[in-house]
Amino acid sequence: SIHSKISEIFSAPPSNTPAVIKGWVKSVRKMKGMIFLDVNDGSTCHKLQIVASKTTVPKNLSYGCSIVASGPVILNPQNQLELRAEELSVVGSCDLTNGYPFLPRKSYDAEYVRQYLHLRPRTNSFSSLLRLRHHASWTLRQYLNMNGYIEVHTPVLTSNDCEGAGETFFVKPNCKATLEAMASPGQSEDEVFFKRKAYLSVSGQLQLEIMARSLSNVYSFGPIFRAENSKSRLHLSEFYMLEVEKAFLDSMNELLEIMEKLLKSVLSTVFENHREEIEHYRKMVNCADYTDVENIISKPFQVLTFDEAKQILRDHSGQFQEPLLEKEGFTKEHELFLVKLNNNVPVFIVEWPAHMKPFYMKASTHSPEKVLAVDLLCPVVGELCGGSLREDDCSILEERMQKLNLTESLDWYLDIRKYGNVPSGGFGLGFERFLQMALGVSNIKDAIPFPRWPKNCKF
Ligand code: 4AD
Ligand code: MG
Repeated sequence: SIHSKISEIFSAPPSNTPAVIKGWVKSVRKMKGMIFLDVNDGSTCHKLQIVASKTTVPKNLSYGCSIVASGPVILNPQNQLELRAEELSVVGSCDLTNGYPFLPRKSYDAEYVRQYLHLRPRTNSFSSLLRLRHHASWTLRQYLNMNGYIEVHTPVLTSNDCEGAGETFFVKPNCKATLEAMASPGQSEDEVFFKRKAYLSVSGQLQLEIMARSLSNVYSFGPIFRAENSKSRLHLSEFYMLEVEKAFLDSMNELLEIMEKLLKSVLSTVFENHREEIEHYRKMVNCADYTDVENIISKPFQVLTFDEAKQILRDHSGQFQEPLLEKEGFTKEHELFLVKLNNNVPVFIVEWPAHMKPFYMKASTHSPEKVLAVDLLCPVVGELCGGSLREDDCSILEERMQKLNLTESLDWYLDIRKYGNVPSGGFGLGFERFLQMALGVSNIKDAIPFPRWPKNCKF
């Protein structure tokens, strides 16, 4: 690959042994009987210059086509790597006159590019994003692995709605024969396959709580599905969530510390190891809200209670487009305002009114109408993480679950608290929002290879 060729050449003096490079042509220049190509193969943001004489170049060579070239790689007088092509062939030509959406020397805005999701990875900016997404995912896992967490694969098909927000996608077999063969008299069609209703997971947390009560420190990282009718720049119907669950955790401060350390460490590792690629990407995209990540890495996060944050917003209520509603949480505008007021350093919001949060959160001992929940608000995206200490008092849980009619379907959730229970807590981090914040991606649809949002599920 071009990536390995670059590392090779810069670690050892250039040799004349021929190399074979396979990739896509990013630009073509002609000069004095010679052709100069910039070729990229996706392994790096760098392009390799290929020089060939006009006579060795096939007729159908153009911008956008795929090629194989071989010849010696040298350092040219401008100190750039250059492949002097002895052989060059076109693998797949690129018809620029017949619908290819990205023409040479033009830049296109993200919305235009998004119309061609299957060709989007050919753009320099999106292939760069994909590499950075890979590095960030690797670094998150690496951080947790090095800190004693065990990765657990939580299910995609599930019978619970963890967050209780009614935003589940319902799953049903699309096969009449199966339905008929499995049906028993009086059974609802929706429950035929699994003998109960099944959904795509909105969070793997409840399953992680099972695992934390045996493996202690666990995490999961996978696709999450939410049927939110939102086309905002921050919501997807399918996104990736990193979820962490830690056993023997009974203090909110400890949970905040885990979140803050993870975020700081992962950001600084990604920026240290991939600065060049990040700068390359940043030059190509324009996010007005892009924030200096150094700020997040170096400054301590702020902690506010829900009530304190509400008071701050009340004090500034004249500045908001929409009125502040006392009985509700924060709008995106409020979240971003709180972060801005803290000089773009993230803000933890703790101690939430119980009615705004799911059933599993631990009640606060000093004010029973509050729960020990946390939202982490960040620049660019507002809420990046949501977490809590989990309720482990069976009688409180049972009472809440009875009200929601969950005692039967979630009997196991009470069970794991009856046998060798321990306090636990954890959080979920929206991976695409993490990328948005770290890299300055203004629309979440440009942070995932195959975005799904209402009315859009192509491929
Ligand atoms: O705050 P949420 O809903 O938390 C949970 O699901 C907990 N059960 C996690 C846990 O404690 N294990 O979701 C966590 C994060 C949000 O803060 C947000 O960043 C992201 O997931 N998120 C979304 N990202 C993209 N599109 C959506 N529709 C999202 N909904 C939530
Ligand atoms: Mg949340």
